[in-house]
Amino acid sequence: MVYCHAVFRFVAQQIEITNMHDIIVTGSIAYDYLMRFPGQFREHILRDKLDQVSLSFLVDDMTRHYGGVAANIVYTLGRLGLRPRLFGTVGKDFGDYRHHLEAVGVDTTLVVQIDSVFTASFFANTDLENNQIASFYSGAMALARNYRLSDVYESKPDLVVISPNDPIAMQSLAQECRERGIRFLYDPSQQVPRLTGSELRQGMSGAFAMVVNQYEADMICEKTGMTLSDLRREIDVLVITRGKHGSSVYMNDDVVDVPIVPAGQIVDPTGVGDAFRAGLLCGISHGWDWKLAGEIGALCACYVLEQVGTQNHVFTVPEFIARFRANFDDQNRLDALLKNQTIQEKL
Ligand SMILES: Nc1ncnc2c1ncn2[C@@H]1O[C@H](COP(=O)(O)OP(=O)(O)OP(=O)(O)O)[C@@H](O)[C@H]1O
Ligand SMILES: [Mg+2]
Repeated sequence: MVYCHAVFRFVAQQIEITNMHDIIVTGSIAYDYLMRFPGQFREHILRDKLDQVSLSFLVDDMTRHYGGVAANIVYTLGRLGLRPRLFGTVGKDFGDYRHHLEAVGVDTTLVVQIDSVFTASFFANTDLENNQIASFYSGAMALARNYRLSDVYESKPDLVVISPNDPIAMQSLAQECRERGIRFLYDPSQQVPRLTGSELRQGMSGAFAMVVNQYEADMICEKTGMTLSDLRREIDVLVITRGKHGSSVYMNDDVVDVPIVPAGQIVDPTGVGDAFRAGLLCGISHGWDWKLAGEIGALCACYVLEQVGTQNHVFTVPEFIARFRANFDDQNRLDALLKNQTIQEKL
């Protein structure tokens, strides 16, 4: 293990990022059912009847969105003209979701469909005061722990992303990557509250990179007893996102600060972090430097901010490049994305 980590560190120092085309993104794949209740929950909750709660809210609006961290990430990667592989567990209701992802260029052949359960689903009902009553059904995601990468994919990918998933699956995927010497990016994000300090330490051990937001970074420090400097020593490339304040990439002794792209209109911030990761991965896959990778991430995040939902943003590669160049200087490197857009052209 120590040996693997030393090799990764060496590679990161020598060439900031090497080309990595065969990327497998693992993690949750879910449906989000969002309802709006045209009233106030508190008017219906009887304080003196809390031992006998039986509430039903008639909602007049419901939308179903494609969600789940891994699926969000590959969706944006597909839009950028890449062909990422998605690995996760889904249920019998995955049919139209598979079609939606394949249509943007995602390879879903590694997705394991288990027909005895439903795909993980998030049901949220929001009232006029933005109070929310939600339930998350883990469904097929709870079975992710039963599958190793080697069960579905014989080759050795260039990079595996370990995103929020069944916590045991996250641990075992990280372990498999270490054992097989596969470079991996650890993305514990919304599972940080569920993971213990020792699970987090174990998960990040040997990771090539870790991406978390500031709150998650602080929580990781608190749970593991590590400081930011300890994290920087442990992980070759540590990326911390800070919402509207942008992000920072810590690589050994260097820090690159990446600004945001101002949104035309902030409609819904859900999923910005996942889109940011997709942009970062796009940069990694082309072997570009971390500054450019982070800037691509910032623009992807901005597109998500401007739409409701996490997979409703639409752009063509030429549109993306033009908007990028209005904000940053890529020295024409993004032209490489145009070569990948065979599927995009058909959209
Ligand atoms: N208000 C904003 N305007 C422009 N860009 C933003 C804004 N908020 C976030 N971003 C971009 O998205 C990136 C990730 O944001 P953030 O740190 O909020 O992620 P997150 O907390 O993981 O989000 P989530 O988990 O809700 O998807 C930021 O580094 C930035 O580039
Ligand atoms: Mg996040």
